[in-house]
This record gives sequence, structure tokens and C-alpha cells, in this order.
Amino acid sequence: MSKPQLILLGAPGSGKGTQAKRLVSEFGFGHISTGDLLRAEIAKASELGKKVKSIMDAGELVNDQVVLELLNANCDLTNNVYIFDGFPRNGEQAALLEDFVLKGIPAKAIYFKVDFEQIIERITNRRLAPKSGEIYNLLTRKPKVDGKCDVSGEDLIHRDDDKEEVVRNRLEVFKKTIEPVLEYYKSKTQLVELDASRPADVVFEDLKKLID
Ligand code: AP5
Repeated sequence: MSKPQLILLGAPGSGKGTQAKRLVSEFGFGHISTGDLLRAEIAKASELGKKVKSIMDAGELVNDQVVLELLNANCDLTNNVYIFDGFPRNGEQAALLEDFVLKGIPAKAIYFKVDFEQIIERITNRRLAPKSGEIYNLLTRKPKVDGKCDVSGEDLIHRDDDKEEVVRNRLEVFKKTIEPVLEYYKSKTQLVELDASRPADVVFEDLKKLID
């Protein structure tokens, strides 16, 4: 039987993007990160990008319908198994994902649990390579050359919303919105929890068992 679609749930910095990248390279899943899609709109200065930049820089959520449309325009569920990363983020988005995207296609939601102080340390030390998509950390995954991506050689960036005060707001938003999402998948018996506070390699081994 084919694998279910995967929905990665978890606070900012819990490691969803890091693990999604590994799953993609090992299993060939498609990867839909609504954060990446929104940042791509900002980078090309589209009308949508201009509208959402200040919302994202403040660590607030973008309008549900806007994100749903962007997600729908970028995935084709006919022949692909996807990792949904960063969607859904509230109860309304969970229902929208089911009604307008999955429409009965089986899915499994994996909740990455990490405590907030550990997250702040992770995010403030995160550095990203926008072109290659590599995710670094000054404490746990340093680039070989300071400030440069090991894969592409491009300059690494610190995301605008990774400043500590914005991260704290993102975590508050997460705390206020995640419960209905967890309840939604619990009620469908599609939810599994993962201790994502451990080193990335250990988390990945568990993740592979969960999706087998
Ligand atoms: P988005 O881009 O989705 O960000 P996020 O959910 O806040 O998640 P992050 O990308 O910050 O973290 P991550 O869990 O992927 O962690 P990572 O693997 O990088 O959203 C950004 C914004 O877009 C939102 O605030 C909102 O405005 C908007 N948005 C997006 N989706 C939306 C939606 N559906 N609705 C409305 N608005 C939406 O890891 C973090 C760091 O830790 C890295 O440095 C990494 O190297 C390190 N690390 C990872 N795992 C480990 C480990 N196990 N041990 C040690 N270090 C680790």
C-alpha cells in the first residue's frame, strides 16, 4: 500500500524543515513548506509577497485562505506523497487541508515536541542557504567555512523573523493555535508524537520507524 501523506506539526524551530529535507532525500517525498512558499513570494516582490512581509516579520500568521491557495497551487496529489511542513497551523487550516487538498487521501500527522527554551537557542543560532535550502546551526551543524553554504558556497542568512523577540511572539502564536490542530488529528487517530529535543540523527531514526 502506498505511504500516507505526512503532516509535520511543531513549534517554530522544532526541526520540521531539517527532518523534511532528510526524508525527501531518503524517500523522494515532495516537500511543501508554506513558510518557504511565502518567503519565495517576498523574494520575488510579488503583490502577495508585499502583503505578507510585515505579517511574517512580526511573527503573526498569514490569512488562512491565502496560504491554502498558495499550497494548492504548488502540490499535485495525484502521483505524489508530500510532507506538509508548516500547514496546518490552526483548527481552521486543518479542516481546509482535509476538505480542499487531501479530500480523503490518507495522512499521518507527526507532532515534534521540544521545549521552548531549547527552541530559542536553536533558532537564534540558525543560518540558512536560500538557494540550496541547507539549514545550519552555529552550535549543532556548523558550515565548514564561516558564513558560507557547504553545498553551494552562497552566503548564509539569518531569517528576518529569527530575532529573539519575534521568535518569542511566534512561540506565543503557536501556543494559542496548536491545540485544536492536535485535537483534530487525535480524533481521526492520525496523530503520533515525537521527542524532537534529541540530536537530529536520533530524531531521524525514530521518524523513519514512524513512517514505515
Ligand atoms: P515557517 O517557515 O513555517 O517557520 P516555522 O514553522 O516557524 O518553523 P521554522 O522554519 O522556524 O522551524 P523548523 O521547525 O523548520 O526548524 P528547523 O529545521 O529550521 O513559517 C514562518 C512564517 O510564515 C510564520 O511565522 C507565518 O507568518 C508564515 N506562515 C507559514 N505557514 C503559515 C500558515 N500555514 N498559515 C499562516 N501563516 C504561515 O530547525 C531550527 C534550527 O535548529 C536549525 O538551525 C537546525 O539546524 C537546528 N536543529 C534542527 N533539529 C535539531 C536537533 N534535533 N537538534 C539540534 N538542533 C537542531
